[in-house]
Amino acid sequence: MNVALGVGGGIAAYKAAELARALMERGFTVEVVMTRAAEEFIRPLTFAALTGRKVHTHLFSAASAEDTLASAIEHIRVAQENQLLVVAPATADLLAKFTHGLADDLLTTTYLAFTGTVVLAPAMNTNMWNHPASQTNMQVLRGRGHVVVEPGEGLLACGMIGPGRLAEPDQIADAVLAASKTKKPRRDLDGETILITAGPTQEPIDGVRYLSNRSSGKMGYALAEEAVARGARVTLISGPVNLPAPLGATLVPVRTALEMRQAVMDRLSEATIVVKAAAVADYHIPNPSKQKMKKTAARLSLDLEPTPDILAELGAKKGDRLLIGFAAETDNMVEEARRKLQQKNCDMVVGNVVSHVVSHVASQQGTGFESDENEVVLVTRAGETIPVARASKRAIAGRIFDEAMRLRLALHASR
Ligand SMILES: Cc1cc2nc3c(=O)[nH]c(=O)nc-3n(C[C@H](O)[C@H](O)[C@H](O)COP(=O)(O)O)c2cc1C
Repeated sequence: MNVALGVGGGIAAYKAAELARALMERGFTVEVVMTRAAEEFIRPLTFAALTGRKVHTHLFSAASAEDTLASAIEHIRVAQENQLLVVAPATADLLAKFTHGLADDLLTTTYLAFTGTVVLAPAMNTNMWNHPASQTNMQVLRGRGHVVVEPGEGLLACGMIGPGRLAEPDQIADAVLAASKTKKPRRDLDGETILITAGPTQEPIDGVRYLSNRSSGKMGYALAEEAVARGARVTLISGPVNLPAPLGATLVPVRTALEMRQAVMDRLSEATIVVKAAAVADYHIPNPSKQKMKKTAARLSLDLEPTPDILAELGAKKGDRLLIGFAAETDNMVEEARRKLQQKNCDMVVGNVVSHVVSHVASQQGTGFESDENEVVLVTRAGETIPVARASKRAIAGRIFDEAMRLRLALHASR
């Protein structure tokens, strides 16, 4: 298997020579790409002698236009001919460039052109590593599915003690070997624009009180994370929840059912798939008081009006889009899910058993609203009823998209 080894301009660049050897000892063919700064720390000749191959240093190194054509465009060739791209040491500068897609030298252009597995071994001064800019960049890069070989702690070249030291070459080479055996995650949602709704809505009663439900938003957020990981552009329209925004998704926070409806309709035209996982209130108080209502001895009745049926409206306007609804039911779940599918013109309804939510300790063992796990039945327009055994919400999200993509093919074929 071929590995492109990108060497950044850090003090640990000399250890990349040991890494090249360690990779070769594990059976990899190694092709080295150095940054200009890396050449300040170690000579290309060292890598050329170790690997027996030409070392690439400059984006515009070809002597003439004819040479360029003869050798193909170097960064594209390096990206195509190698199955893994290992960057060690990954400098703070390279992490920032990768994060933002800057492409001003051979290594950064190769990174952008590369579609295989990326392994990053960062190394830098402790303060540089701990800086929020570096940590945010790492979060983004991890979110892209890159393998990160964490820097070790210890005495650094700058005299500081702390994290930032390049991991040992053998440790990095072992991580590359493990990554080479791991199947790359699917990118089958590439090109899709997916609109996902999540969480509860809050319907004001007065200036301080509201009606809501026990939806935690976890299912919708898991769907968003799964869709991003599989290559989709994702907009997540979320009611109030206590969850971190999924990396890579555009988060649109809303509060009420009316706000949720507006946010969905505003973005419908760009969507190829709509997943309505939110638990939208069925009723609201049309003109709630802005002041806090005073407590009195008298009984209080709330005059509730139905909220707009967003799913039904989507069903009427959906065109070729895949429309996936959720039915959280306590009884007759499959029948209710099928009724919803037909009445609202959905392609799939995810039937969600929420019988436990009346229990106060339900979230500990249950499935449904507040749990990290779920157990669902997928009811499809093709007439199928597909039970999905209890699993994490992320795994359930994966299964929902698997079945949705299969269903779309089946529906197209039957037209
Ligand atoms: C002596 C010296 C040591 C350096 N060590 C590191 C380092 O370990 N990690 C790092 O991120 N930057 C380090 N730098 C800064 C980088 O060399 C600088 O950010 C450079 O632009 C990185 O270029 P590159 O990202 O193209 O490799 C060091 C600079 C000097 C002068």
